[in-house]
Amino acid sequence: MDELNGKKILLGISGGIAAYKSIELIRRLNDSGAEVRVVMTKSATEFVTPLTFEAISGNPVHVEMFGPRIKSAIEHVELARWADLIVIAPATANVIAKLTHGIADDLLTTVCLALTDIDLAVAPAMNLGMWKNPATQENIASLSGRGIKIWGPAEGFQACGEIGSGRMIEAAELADHVRSYFAVNQTYGGVKVVITAGPTREPLDPVRFITNRSSGKMGYEIASACAERGAEVVLVSGPVSIAAPEGIKTIDVETAQEMHDAVFANIVDADIYIGTAAVADYRAATPAEQKIKKSADELSIELTKNPDILADVAAMDTPPFTVGFAAETNDIEIYAKGKLQKKKLKMIAANQVGVSGTGFDSDNNKLHVYWNGGDRELPLASKAELARELVALIMEHYDA
Ligand code: C5P
Repeated sequence: MDELNGKKILLGISGGIAAYKSIELIRRLNDSGAEVRVVMTKSATEFVTPLTFEAISGNPVHVEMFGPRIKSAIEHVELARWADLIVIAPATANVIAKLTHGIADDLLTTVCLALTDIDLAVAPAMNLGMWKNPATQENIASLSGRGIKIWGPAEGFQACGEIGSGRMIEAAELADHVRSYFAVNQTYGGVKVVITAGPTREPLDPVRFITNRSSGKMGYEIASACAERGAEVVLVSGPVSIAAPEGIKTIDVETAQEMHDAVFANIVDADIYIGTAAVADYRAATPAEQKIKKSADELSIELTKNPDILADVAAMDTPPFTVGFAAETNDIEIYAKGKLQKKKLKMIAANQVGVSGTGFDSDNNKLHVYWNGGDRELPLASKAELARELVALIMEHYDA
């Protein structure tokens, strides 16, 4: 029973009588190898004491947002970063409503609002009238639409004496959900993925360069999504201002030629290659050794073509499953399909650039993915969510 070895689970406990079931849930998660930390709401402490959860989990229990026991002003961010998965069990109607609307008025809801790319699951626990209430049902639909997992509720006797839907599912069933969550998410075990991200920088002289607006966000999210599924990831990154994803081998490069070299130093045993980098197509033929001086009214700089890393990878004798990106301002489908054929790719993810709210530098994006004989639209979502969907789609085709 070590399916959850090394997994870090943050268990949120809100104020319902079902809080007693969370004692057994922690024991079961521990038995499977997971480390559990607990965040309780104030009302949860009315049902079971923090001391009980401290003893069972072997870790301090967090309740307060502020106070003498708080080690850091950004504890909520640290807790969110620490976790591989957050499970709120029991999740009251009140907590569900707060999550729906982004209210952060205690430590648990603040941790949840600080989440960016960690998954969240809730196990509803409430009286059947509260569960059936259209407000709760709308909130649940909204959470589910955002990719938050809803585990339960079950039917049966309720603490209020009524019979119906609203009971929290049992600890054994919750532990099964957690195990299958990680099992599904380990489909990349033993797979090596090389990913490029960000722009490249092509020097004109010692102080100037040609570059583009790529932020690297999409590539970094794809790298995290692959690692989340158990892949060995090598991320080759151009200059970006975002933090390197934790636990992923990241090689920093500047120019297209350096990116090419770093990719080819790591590609031989790779199973999948995903080229998200916005590689500069041209570089200065001979970058000036000294700063170019302002003199004539016009200045011409001769440019020469950079290697096409993606095409070179796809042209290898035994290429990995090669996925390209196509950022286009117009005629997306025609250009994307053209690149798929010309560069001999297995898949291409196209997105529109030049419109606000998507593409370069934005937190959101939408993609249209094409492969030989099919295509799929991935609608507007956060880049983290979109990366997970794309990685799942790549896996479907990589296996086929
Ligand atoms: O041909 P275009 O530059 O539009 O193709 C975009 C795709 O090709 C992206 O996946 C990008 O990472 C890759 N590419 C590359 N090397 C280049 C230019 C683009 O790998 N020199």
